[in-house]
Amino acid sequence: MPTKATKRTARVKPGQRAEETLRVLISHKRIRERVRQMAQEIRRDFPNEPVHLVGVLKGSVLFLADLARELGGEVSFDFISVSSYGKGMDSTGEVKMNKDLDVSIEGRSVLVVEDILDTGLTLKYLLRLFEERKPKHLRVAVLLDKAERRIADVKADYTGFVIPNEFVVGYGLDYDERYRNLPDVCVVRLGPHGKMKIEA
Ligand code: IMP
Repeated sequence: MPTKATKRTARVKPGQRAEETLRVLISHKRIRERVRQMAQEIRRDFPNEPVHLVGVLKGSVLFLADLARELGGEVSFDFISVSSYGKGMDSTGEVKMNKDLDVSIEGRSVLVVEDILDTGLTLKYLLRLFEERKPKHLRVAVLLDKAERRIADVKADYTGFVIPNEFVVGYGLDYDERYRNLPDVCVVRLGPHGKMKIEA
C-alpha cells in the first residue's frame, strides 16, 4: 500500500530563489524507508529473475539509483527521454520522444521507473510503446502519485506516496531544471505570498 505524505516546514534550501517558497512534504528518511519496502514488494513478485529497469529521464534518476541498490539480485537498466511538460509547471498535454532505449526489451521483465504520475499521459504513451516490443513482463513503479490529476486510464503496480495536487521538487524532480538534488520532496510555491501559480 502506498504511504500517505505528511508535511513539515523547511529552512532555506540550496538554490532557492527569494520568490519561491519550499516546504518539505516527504523527508529523505521516509523516502529511503519506502523505497526499501517497494524493492521488497518487487523482489517478492520477481524472485530469482533479472529485472530490467527503464528509467524515464530525468526525474527518475535518483529514485532508480536507490531502487536498483535495494533490489539486489540481477538488475540492469536503460533510460528513455520523453517530454510532456514544457518549462515550468504547465503541462502541454503532448508527449514527444527525445531519446529511445539503447537495448531491446523483448522477452525481459521490465520495470518502468517514473518519478511522478500526474495526468498519466506520459505513462500511457510509454506503456503503449513498450507493449509493442513484447517484453515478458511490463510493470510500473512510481515514487509519487497525484491521483486526483489523472486524465489517462493508467495505474502503477508499485506506488511510493500518494500526494495532493501541488507542484513538487527534489529527489530528482525539478522546477526549470533546479532542485533535482534536494534529498527531500518539497512543495514549491511562487510569488511574494507563496501563492501557487498552478491550477488544477
Ligand atoms: P504526466 O504525463 O502528466 O503524468 O506527467 C508526468 C511528468 O510530468 C513527470 O514525469 C514529471 O516530469 C512532470 N511532473 C508532473 N508533476 C510534476 C511536479 O509536481 N513536479 C515536477 N514535475 C512534475
